[in-house]
Amino acid sequence: ASSNFATRSAGYANEPPLQRFLAGCYGDFKSDYSGTVADYIPELKRANPAHFGIGLVTIDGHVYEVGDSAMPFTIQSVSKAFVFALALDLVGEERVAAAIGVEPSGEAFNSIRLTNDNRPFNPMVNAGAIACSGLIHQVDGAHAFERIREKLSQFAGRELDVDDAVHASEALTGNRNRAIAWLLRNYLVLQDDVDAVLDTYFRQCAILVTARDLAVMAATLANRGVNPVTGVSVISPNIVARTLSVMTSSGMYDYAGEWIYRVGIPAKSGVGGGIVAALPSQMGLGTFSPCLDSHGNSVRGLKVCEALSSRFDLHML
Ligand code: DON
Repeated sequence: ASSNFATRSAGYANEPPLQRFLAGCYGDFKSDYSGTVADYIPELKRANPAHFGIGLVTIDGHVYEVGDSAMPFTIQSVSKAFVFALALDLVGEERVAAAIGVEPSGEAFNSIRLTNDNRPFNPMVNAGAIACSGLIHQVDGAHAFERIREKLSQFAGRELDVDDAVHASEALTGNRNRAIAWLLRNYLVLQDDVDAVLDTYFRQCAILVTARDLAVMAATLANRGVNPVTGVSVISPNIVARTLSVMTSSGMYDYAGEWIYRVGIPAKSGVGGGIVAALPSQMGLGTFSPCLDSHGNSVRGLKVCEALSSRFDLHML
């Protein structure tokens, strides 16, 4: 593989090795159109399968970007990791643990199944994420979404906006999430206005990010909660450790075991085509490519992560 790497990177001889590597990945994987764009949220069908962007940010704040790294797309489930961190920060570990488990479910992201004690399996599946949004809603009420948007903006180091069309599209069609939320209300995991919690969740999923943003957000996790680009302390190291733990065990859904075996980097994917991967004390990676595999993980994004992990020996174990 290393001779291929040298050949691929020949045109970028004057670029730093990481930039050359990312350009090589872009060239290698951009013609791969396997997988399909998410269509269960109608507005997501409009995504262009050609789009492919990569960002990588080291913990000393160097930013590397390739392809459509400035192209906005909706964060979707990638938000779950950061909203979990926010929930821990706002209500504390005990209240979060009372509402949500930390066991991998081995099931699809939209599974309605709960644990034997009627909690969501973990905060990375829809049920657990809706529960997190509920905890934040209990504290902030109508300001819950704004609190989430502000925190995610700190992670990204810039003001993040919302895609109103995607939000409206999911609000219209998200009846499965609605069913999950009402089930959680029945078990008192959700304790207040279900519709308001769902709207908070749908809105958080429709926050617009770029691959570069995701890389900065991941690098903030990798850097123990301090954004390495802005220098702002976003979240405590203790919460970062818990967030990376659930990303490790459950971030890639029913592919999580395979993922940690092959790639070995805590990560989280979203049906908008984004993946964040954060390697503690090293770097954050953000990828964007809308075609997804059967687990809901971006195909080209997975390939970039695999290539990066093997090329630079980044498997954490
Ligand atoms: O709740 C949903 O179904 C979407 N808003 C987010 C799902 C998602 O991104 C799953 N990730 N692969």
